[in-house]
Amino acid sequence: MTTAELELTTARTSAQSPSATMKALIYHGPGKCAWDDKPRPTINDPGDAIVRITTSTICGTDLHILKGDLPAVTDGRILGHEGIGVIEQVGAGVSEFHVGDKVIISCVTACLKCDFCRRGMYSHCRHGGWILGNTIDGTQAEYVRIPQADGSLYNFPPDGDEEAMVMLSDILPTGFECGVLNGQVKPGDTIVIVGAGPVGLAVLLTAQFYSPAAIFMIDLDDKRLAAAKKFGATTLINSADGRAAQHVMELTEGAGVDVAIEAVGLPATFGICQAIVAAGGRIANVGVHGKSVELHMEKLWDRNISITTRLVDTVTTPMLLKVVRSGKLQPHKLVTHRFAINDIMKAYDTFRNAAKEGALKVVLTNSEPR
Ligand SMILES: NC(=O)c1ccc[n+]([C@@H]2O[C@H](COP(=O)([O-])OP(=O)(O)OC[C@H]3O[C@@H](n4cnc5c(N)ncnc54)[C@H](O)[C@@H]3O)[C@@H](O)[C@H]2O)c1
Ligand SMILES: [Zn+2]
Ligand SMILES: [Zn+2]
Repeated sequence: MTTAELELTTARTSAQSPSATMKALIYHGPGKCAWDDKPRPTINDPGDAIVRITTSTICGTDLHILKGDLPAVTDGRILGHEGIGVIEQVGAGVSEFHVGDKVIISCVTACLKCDFCRRGMYSHCRHGGWILGNTIDGTQAEYVRIPQADGSLYNFPPDGDEEAMVMLSDILPTGFECGVLNGQVKPGDTIVIVGAGPVGLAVLLTAQFYSPAAIFMIDLDDKRLAAAKKFGATTLINSADGRAAQHVMELTEGAGVDVAIEAVGLPATFGICQAIVAAGGRIANVGVHGKSVELHMEKLWDRNISITTRLVDTVTTPMLLKVVRSGKLQPHKLVTHRFAINDIMKAYDTFRNAAKEGALKVVLTNSEPR
């Protein structure tokens, strides 16, 4: 056996050893999490792959989890559903990926075979869906187990940049599918995006595939609004005065907007969307909601509008990957802060205090295998 083969065998054995540990960000109930030791994941099912994380990031949904908005996430869960990594081990049933492949991890796990997957609704896959960092351990760790690996991983392109590619795990398909496609953005439309976080900005970037005439961006944070301007927003509205809806109605001479996209997940921001949608318009909800919202049917019943909700399916990831590779989408520009994965607690503080820190997407890197 050559030294290289011996090293590979040792690495594979240690990854399989139940006593081997790793560091991971562990959720301990609302408001509590810790970077701590956990057993390294092992292959549980023939369709699994074990991936050593090289890049991960934090999503607004992780903040919702920490607020207690998603009770399905229980004490002990490793958070995170975005990441890039290198495959350490594959189960016998994985045919498309091999040990050593560098991969993009999709936030949604898809078997590609069940009735929902066959309709392109991977988000509700009977053997997956959004489970990573939710009902199974996630990617804010040194290693992660990816079930249904053949349907849930993408090959990392040879010319790829990890900071750009990690945006394909979640925010680009989310912004595009839940916001732009569900909102049916068309050339010449006037659209509003409520929430200039990374997801709202992903809506902004991908809405421009369709040349809307005007894109209004609403947020409380002037720094994020300034970023939105750089990424193509035509009008910025700071909603801190509680008058965002009035501003939009004045700017549209009372007509309202063709598409109102909610990318925050609060009753107030969903309320803004209801107040500004034009007759015949669409409200596309993207935000994760932890509380019920008031639906003003007394005002909306005769407006010929539609309201959509969606958990990202990630069916558009292959297309978005091509657009990113072409350079026409440049999502690496959303990265404002970089941390070693060991400093994830600091990274959470930065992302949680985004307005003060001037943060958009915070990237976590894990360069050295232990
Ligand atoms: N549907 C899906 O599949 C899916 C997938 C990923 C993320 N999400 C959700 O998308 C939303 C956005 O994610 P993100 O990563 O951009 O989160 P984020 O927390 O970084 O951004 C939220 C933005 O909303 C702004 N905001 C808060 N309150 C506001 C108010 N009252 N008025 C106007 N703006 C306000 C904040 O300043 C911030 O810029 C979250 O709810 C997240 O859970 C949904
Ligand atoms: Zn997410
Ligand atoms: Zn399925």
